[in-house]
Amino acid sequence: MDPIVADWISLALRWAHVMVGIMWIGTSFHFIWLDASLRREQGMGDGLAGATWMVHGGGFYRATKYMVAPPEMPADLHWFKYEAYFTWITGFLLLAVIYYLGANDLLIDPRVMELTPMTAIGISVGSLIAGWIIYDLLCRSPIGERTGLLAFLVFLLACVASYGFAHVFSGRAAFVHIGAFLGTIMAANVFFIIIPNQKKVVAALMGGQVPDAILGKQAKQRSLHNNYLTLPVVLMMISNHYPMMFEHAQSWLLVVGILLFSGLLRLYANMKNAGASGSPVTAVLFYAAMVGMGAIAYASYRPGPDLESIGPVTFADVQAIVAHRCQACHSANPTDTAYRVPPKGIAFDTPDQIRRMAPQIERMVVLTKAMPIGNKTGMLPEERLMIAKWLADNKAGAE
Ligand code: HEC
Repeated sequence: MDPIVADWISLALRWAHVMVGIMWIGTSFHFIWLDASLRREQGMGDGLAGATWMVHGGGFYRATKYMVAPPEMPADLHWFKYEAYFTWITGFLLLAVIYYLGANDLLIDPRVMELTPMTAIGISVGSLIAGWIIYDLLCRSPIGERTGLLAFLVFLLACVASYGFAHVFSGRAAFVHIGAFLGTIMAANVFFIIIPNQKKVVAALMGGQVPDAILGKQAKQRSLHNNYLTLPVVLMMISNHYPMMFEHAQSWLLVVGILLFSGLLRLYANMKNAGASGSPVTAVLFYAAMVGMGAIAYASYRPGPDLESIGPVTFADVQAIVAHRCQACHSANPTDTAYRVPPKGIAFDTPDQIRRMAPQIERMVVLTKAMPIGNKTGMLPEERLMIAKWLADNKAGAE
């Protein structure tokens, strides 16, 4: 596909994906809050769990929750499900347009594993399906009865997936895939469990029967998992702007840190919502802070390159390296056929363009090895050191 056409499709999909994703998480967070804010009121009937008052956009709203269901089903019952489905559909299409069509540059990194585009795409699709099947079997097995053990195993599954993706795909693709892996579980939970169970409950009630209690229990368990997965999934989806995470030598360990950190944050929010206060709540926040700072420190620690052995580097040397290793893509007229315009509008055609981008070059070539993408142009370690030396000399000169 023409790269510009692919870009337009990707823009439209990304816009739609972010919008429906906001709606999904927005309603989901709203209902979590709503549930927690319900209060029993004086004279409230036995069939009611509680009620709450809200004000928004100039209007007052009152919501009441029924213990099981209202005595009669309302003619107009609103379901919240399309947000989840469309988030997954637009997300998967976006993954395909960006990472499957651009598999050579974005999905595959020969430094991690030599793959053909077909194999890489097969692993990608297969892993998303396998993730859901394993997760679903875990929940349905006798382990599903033990909430704590199940939560631990789901966490372990996410860690194994992170390790796997990081050892198969390029750094950025690995992170997006961890998000897609967990996001697929979330959307499938809505599609295969939460909504069908809810429908069965409604049908039973309409037929004057008592709904099977297991249906509600199952749905609640899956909802709780979705609740804890939301924060890490969103972080993984925006992670590809941050090579200091996905280009880290042990990036999967950082993901484990992110899962723990966001899990603790979620636990804190849930405890607060439920009205808890005092030292247990503070302790959770404290642990979250420790894990978060630990992960940042781990991601940031990089021993500086040894520049002693590198002789003087002139700007002409740097220009030659950039011309050789970067300009195939980063030029007003890229010669790499995957690009018709310079990626991110960054071109290195003139000395001034290179000088102005020095901090970005340091970020992408020296501090991380995010560029050249997948090391497609075969940049040598010595060349990175020479760029590092030039940058260091420049900084020393500026001071
Ligand atoms: C094979 C093509 C290719 C080569 C070669 C290449 N890049 Fe890139 N570069 C890209 C793509 C694609 C992006 C956009 C990535 C994205 O969307 O996050 C990019 C983005 C960048 C960015 C912006 C990153 C950001 O997040 O803002 C910088 C800076 C950069 N490249 C520097 C370089 C340097 C320096 C070299 C040479 C050492 C180089 N690139 C070689 C394809 C390439």
